[in-house]
Formats: sequence, C-alpha cells, structure tokens
Amino acid sequence: MASKLGIYGLSTMGKNLALNFVDKNTPISVFNRTSGVTYEFVRTVNSSNLIGFELLQDFLDSLEYPRVIFLLIKSEAVHKVLEEMAPLLSPDDIVVDLGNSFYRESRQLSQKYRDKFNFIDCGISGGEEGARYGASFMLGGTERSLHVKNILERVAAKTKDYPCVELFEGSGAGHFVKMLHNAIEYAVMQFLGEIYACLKKFKLEDFEIAAVFESVSKTELNSYLLQITIDILNFSKENGILDQIEEKSGQKGTGKWAVQTALDYGLGVPNITCAVEARNLSHYFSEFQLRNSTMVDKKIDCGPLIDLFYLFYIAIYDQAVQVLRKSREIELFNFKLNQPFKVWQAGSILASDHIHRLTVEELDSTDSFIRGPREIRDFFIYDFEKQMASLKNFIKIGLDAGCFMPCCMSVYNYLTGLTASFPLGFNLIQAQRDYFGRHGVLLKGQTNLTNIKWK
Ligand code: 6PG
Repeated sequence: MASKLGIYGLSTMGKNLALNFVDKNTPISVFNRTSGVTYEFVRTVNSSNLIGFELLQDFLDSLEYPRVIFLLIKSEAVHKVLEEMAPLLSPDDIVVDLGNSFYRESRQLSQKYRDKFNFIDCGISGGEEGARYGASFMLGGTERSLHVKNILERVAAKTKDYPCVELFEGSGAGHFVKMLHNAIEYAVMQFLGEIYACLKKFKLEDFEIAAVFESVSKTELNSYLLQITIDILNFSKENGILDQIEEKSGQKGTGKWAVQTALDYGLGVPNITCAVEARNLSHYFSEFQLRNSTMVDKKIDCGPLIDLFYLFYIAIYDQAVQVLRKSREIELFNFKLNQPFKVWQAGSILASDHIHRLTVEELDSTDSFIRGPREIRDFFIYDFEKQMASLKNFIKIGLDAGCFMPCCMSVYNYLTGLTASFPLGFNLIQAQRDYFGRHGVLLKGQTNLTNIKWK
C-alpha cells in the first residue's frame, strides 16, 4: 500500500510528527540524510504504518499520488534538498517546508519551482510535544494547500470547535504568520524574564516568584509560556539551576525578521524590537560580568503585577495586528485578521486562556485594539488609569533597584503614545528636518508641505 505522505528529516520534530501520524493510523514513509537514523527509528517504532528508505527515489516512489512530502529540516538546508528532489518530482507533487524559513525565500522557491512541483510553506508551532501530540499549523499557499490541510488536521491540536490548521492564502503567508508568532513569543518571554529578574532583585526565591506567576495563571492570562515558566521556577527551587545558567539568550532569526519586516512596512513593533535587541545585548552585557549582584532589601508588592500583564498583552497584540494588516496590503496575502489567533489557540507556544477572545470576526474591521472591538478592549483594559499607575510604579521601583526592563518601558511608551495628549515631540523633529534639510513641515489644517524661513 502506498504511503499517504513522506517525512523528510528525522530530527526531533520529524520523528515526533511521524509518530503522531502513525498513532493516527496514517501510513507514512520516512527518509533521513543519514540512513542509520532512519533504520534505527523504524526499528524502534516497529509499526506497519511506518516505512523507511535509504534512497530518495525509493522514498518518493512509495508515496500515493499526488505525492506529499513534508520537509522537517533546517531552513538553511531547504534550497539544497529541493535541488536534489526537483528532478524526481512531477508538477502535481507537493513539497511542504515545515521549518522556520523566511517567508520571502519561501515565496521565491515556490516561484522557482512552479513548473516542476508545488512548493508550500507551513509554520508549525508547539515544539517537540506539539509535533508528537497535536501542533498548531500555519499553512501558506493556494488551493493546492487544501489537500495538505486535510492531512494536517489529523495531527493538529484541537480546540473544542476545530483543529488548529489555518490556510493563509498567498505564497509565503504561512511562514509569515509563523514569523510573527515567534516574534510575539520573544516578547512574552522578554516580559516574563524581566519580571522574574526584577523580583529576584528584591530577593524573592524561585518558589516565591513561581507563586506570583501562579496567581496570574489563575486568571485568563494563563498561558503555555507562563506554565512552563512556573515549572522551571519550581524545578529550580530544588537545585538552583537557573542561577547556574549563563545570562546569554540565543535566537534563530525569526524575531529579527519580524522586526525588519515591520520596519520595511513603516511600522514600529517596540515590544518585539526590544526583545530581539535584549537577546543580542545579553551577549555583550555578559562580557561585563565584573559586577556583584546588589540585591534590594525591601519588600515588593506583587499584587499590582497583574495589571501589567493585561497592558503588555494588549500592546503586543496591537503591534502584531498592525503587521498582519499591513502584510495583506504589501504582500497581497489574503487572510482574516482573526485567523492567526484561531490557529494559535491550542498546540502553539502562544496558546493561552484568553487568546480565543481575539478570534472574533470584528477584528478585521478595527484599526486598533485601543479603539475596539469593545469586548477585547474592555477585557485587557478594565481600568486604564489604575493599570498604567501599576505599570509606572513597577517601572519606578525597578529602576530604583537597578533592574533592566526594556519591555515594561516599551509597553509604557507604546500605550502612552497611543493614548497621551500632544505634544509628543514629532513636530520639533519635523522642524529640525526642515531647518537643516528643507524637508518641509505639514502645518495643521494644510495638506501640502511648507518650508519655513527659519532665519
Ligand atoms: C514554536 C517555536 C519554535 C522556535 C523556537 C526557537 O512555535 O514551536 O517558535 O518554532 O523555533 O522557539 O526559536 P528561537 O531559537 O529563535 O528562540
């Protein structure tokens, strides 16, 4: 019997996705560059639904038509693998890149191979566990992708209403949405990291910080990332492992691409930018480890922290929605703004108890969360004055204690920029531009630029 699909690449993700399909009674073929890995995997799993191949041609021959091949390889290897595979494929075949590839490259590849086979981009979220038991899939492409969507539904995480697979129309759109997913992931991690570090400054033990996060997790702000943070802290309270980890963060590039893309669009995504920069800076900072940690001998009231969480989320989602909206105009992607939130509800690293609130259709017709839809705004902003006071107070306390808190400060700046009355200082910048470069200023009530005679 021919296999329903082929998995190319048996790293952790490839193996776990393969096991997930096997559990779903789906006959699959697997291939890995090093055939020893393939044989060992097939031998250990020992299922009639799993068959491994040493030769690429045999692997491809084992698949039912139209052939569907999932690539679970490093994004740097995609070009090379496609080159090898191209002569062996036919125009109906479908190759799906499930890696974290840059969406513009995916679009170019789909163009390059358009006469040879269908190349489709697809983001997968949920890490190892998601691949094994139910992931969130962000599928790009066109009507050919519908066939893939049906297959992915078998192994997707499920909300109570639907499987977490969405088709984002447009070549590269799947990887685009995944890129933004990761960028939000960076921001959430930076936010949690800052709160953790600040509470450490106030001499809270890991288990006490876990308790603070646990109280947040009792609300709808509970999330996958918050849960794993609590787990890590509780684990660390036994052995102090966190204190033994070098303060240097890694990254593979998706957050940076999101920032670059947003800047190319003429947008600002301060919470993402500061999270990417902070990871970069951590390497530089770590060169200056001559300092002793100075802890603060004061009590900190953690109660108001919950207010910050709501403000942080509305700020980051608002920035993300601006990027999604602009991508439809610039890249000609065709999707609804609630689709990413739908697919992130379960299985993904961004899964949370509140994200379902962003799956409403009205999301499409509003330009900012600050203005609506009302139910969303009222959920995140229940008492703006009080929440901002909590944020400012936390920043003040943190700054006095010598904490590093770019994310908290950029939430403050973003929300202040959105809601504060003028002046913000941009009029002065325009004046300076005109003063030295005759760039022109737009006077209130006018539509054309004017040059001022400054001297
Ligand atoms: C996911 C994750 C995953 C990502 C890692 C690493 O949704 O499962 O986003 O795809 O690769 O989180 O990302 P960085 O190495 O850039 O932190």
